[in-house]
Amino acid sequence: MPNRDPDHWLGWHDGYGDPSSSLSRRLAVVQHHVGSALATAPPGPITILSLCSGQGRDVLEVLRDHRRRQDVRARLVELDPTNARIAREAAAGIDARAIEVLEADAGWTDASMGASPADILLLVGIFGNVPEADIEQTIAAVPMLCRVGGITIWTRGRRPPDMTPVIRDWFARAGCDELAFVAPEDALFSVGVERFVGRPVPPTSGHRLFAFDASASEGPQPRDLP
Ligand SMILES: C[S@@+](CC[C@H](N)C(=O)[O-])C[C@H]1O[C@@H](n2cnc3c(N)ncnc32)[C@H](O)[C@@H]1O
Repeated sequence: MPNRDPDHWLGWHDGYGDPSSSLSRRLAVVQHHVGSALATAPPGPITILSLCSGQGRDVLEVLRDHRRRQDVRARLVELDPTNARIAREAAAGIDARAIEVLEADAGWTDASMGASPADILLLVGIFGNVPEADIEQTIAAVPMLCRVGGITIWTRGRRPPDMTPVIRDWFARAGCDELAFVAPEDALFSVGVERFVGRPVPPTSGHRLFAFDASASEGPQPRDLP
């Protein structure tokens, strides 16, 4: 079921306006790990792929001053035209090698072709909005989306029933080693960081990953959580 409010995903970003919100805290954790992944990437080009990237803050705000920014080719895939425009405007001021904001459905691998396998893959703000089967299917596709040795950063709320143990297991089965799992006691968000060490699968178009489904939503967005 698609969300009926056309501005829903634009307004969702308002939570970032409050630096003490769970959403802002989650952003800080994701940004920290994007920065670390960049800092520890081997010399040479670095590809970043962010699916359902929204306004792209997690990538763009880190890239702005990062010493590796000129090595980075980033593709941000976002369906909402206003969010995509805001991301494009933010990207315009950044001195990276290339930043592309693709207004497309990230739920199919077609939108990732040419940017996968990525050195840094962001699956941020997806797993709380899609059916469980789609989470599993997306994680199973990590071997075609993330390069061997590359980093995948994901998020999921922990409102009961907490799915994160299952999600972490799915990443392990997909050939990932968990580098970090941040789940603060006083908040319900969590951020996982995985290194793909399994057998790669050549990227193909026409492969279904997920579809957002309002009825699969975890409920109130992270900014509403304690
Ligand atoms: C929960 S927000 C997360 C945004 C961003 N990753 C963040 O954490 O700030 C989900 C975003 O996914 C976008 N979206 C929903 N379905 C999509 C799809 N099929 N393909 C690409 N983007 C999609 C929405 O417009 C929204 O901006």
